[in-house]
Amino acid sequence: MFSSIKLAAFIFTLAAPVQSWQTEVHCQIGFMAEHFLHETATNMIARILEPQYNGSIGRAAGWADGVRRTPHPYSYGWHYISARDNPPDDCGLYYHRDCQAGGCVVQQISNQTNILKQCIADLGDNKYPTELKCSEALKWVVHFIGDVAQPLHTSERSYGGNSIKVKFNGTDTNLHSVWDKEILYAETGVNPFPADEIHPYFTNLVSRIVKDEFRSPTSGWSLCDLDANRGTYCAEQWAKDSNSIVCDYAYGRYVNGSDLWTGPEKYADGALHIIEEQMAKGAFRLAGWLNALATSTMGSAHVSNQRLVKQISR
Ligand SMILES: *[C@@H]1O[C@H](CO)[C@@H](O)[C@H](O)[C@H]1NC(C)=O
Ligand SMILES: *[C@@H]1O[C@H](CO)[C@@H](O)[C@H](O)[C@H]1NC(C)=O
Ligand SMILES: *[C@@H]1O[C@H](CO)[C@@H](O)[C@H](O)[C@H]1NC(C)=O
Ligand SMILES: *[C@@H]1O[C@H](CO)[C@@H](O)[C@H](O)[C@H]1NC(C)=O
Repeated sequence: MFSSIKLAAFIFTLAAPVQSWQTEVHCQIGFMAEHFLHETATNMIARILEPQYNGSIGRAAGWADGVRRTPHPYSYGWHYISARDNPPDDCGLYYHRDCQAGGCVVQQISNQTNILKQCIADLGDNKYPTELKCSEALKWVVHFIGDVAQPLHTSERSYGGNSIKVKFNGTDTNLHSVWDKEILYAETGVNPFPADEIHPYFTNLVSRIVKDEFRSPTSGWSLCDLDANRGTYCAEQWAKDSNSIVCDYAYGRYVNGSDLWTGPEKYADGALHIIEEQMAKGAFRLAGWLNALATSTMGSAHVSNQRLVKQISR
């Protein structure tokens, strides 16, 4: 049976342009997270990643985009979740209703975390995980915790905004692409960001996290005590958080026909604050997640989740 969801996914596969934070933006989110890692997590990462990444989750964060069509086409839909919402009138996301056939970002954060947990347990027993699946699970977790913070990765409408045609500074593009990269590039004047080291713009976001200077306090960002033993729970909370922005701003403030860069609504300026906070949340959650996994599984002194959050937000 060829369901309409599968058909939609098929058309999407053919028609979709790039649709994920731009690849180097994923790298930057990874480099930001590195600032908040415990030594135990840093060691775990260095032992699990293939040598070419030199122990850096920033460098490894783009891998998932490169394998999406080949050699791992089954991972194509893992970068998003198609909430059956109707923005801007109605947003809402439920994992059991919305995770599309073939898997979604919420499910895969959980699935790949489970694989990674076993890999880390093997490290603790001094078994070196030579299996590629361990490095791949880590690379997927790193990438997907970034993706789930991008609001338009959590909404079904028009394939996450990919088929909403918009103008940005006079150029034809689509709403998804505007959120992935156009706003960031235009506002910062940087294009592209480096894929091998942190850019000063992102170093500045790191210090804003440390000083707790975002509109919502960092202490509320984990939404789930970073408890990796609760299956899809944490990833679902992160997806719901992103999905609310789809109604509040992505579509809520969008005016059809108005240029999103030059228009009087100043859409891009307002969205930038949200995009910065979402990228910061992605980095903060990613570090906390890897810290929790490494410290609870690797036999070092156990650090409570509460303390983890405090340590990384200081
Ligand atoms: C690899 O990482 C180490 C430790 O972080 C650093 O000192 C070294 O310069 C890095 N090497 C390369 C080639 O990036
Ligand atoms: C994810 O994990 C669940 C539970 O272990 C399993 O049933 C499912 O097949 C996995 N899905 C994918 C796409 O890996
Ligand atoms: C917008 O377009 C104008 C005219 O093509 C160009 O000069 C300007 O640099 C563009 N601005 C941005 C932020 O891309
Ligand atoms: C925007 O307006 C055009 C022309 O009126 C219309 O064809 C299109 O469906 C509208 N797009 C959205 C997303 O409402």
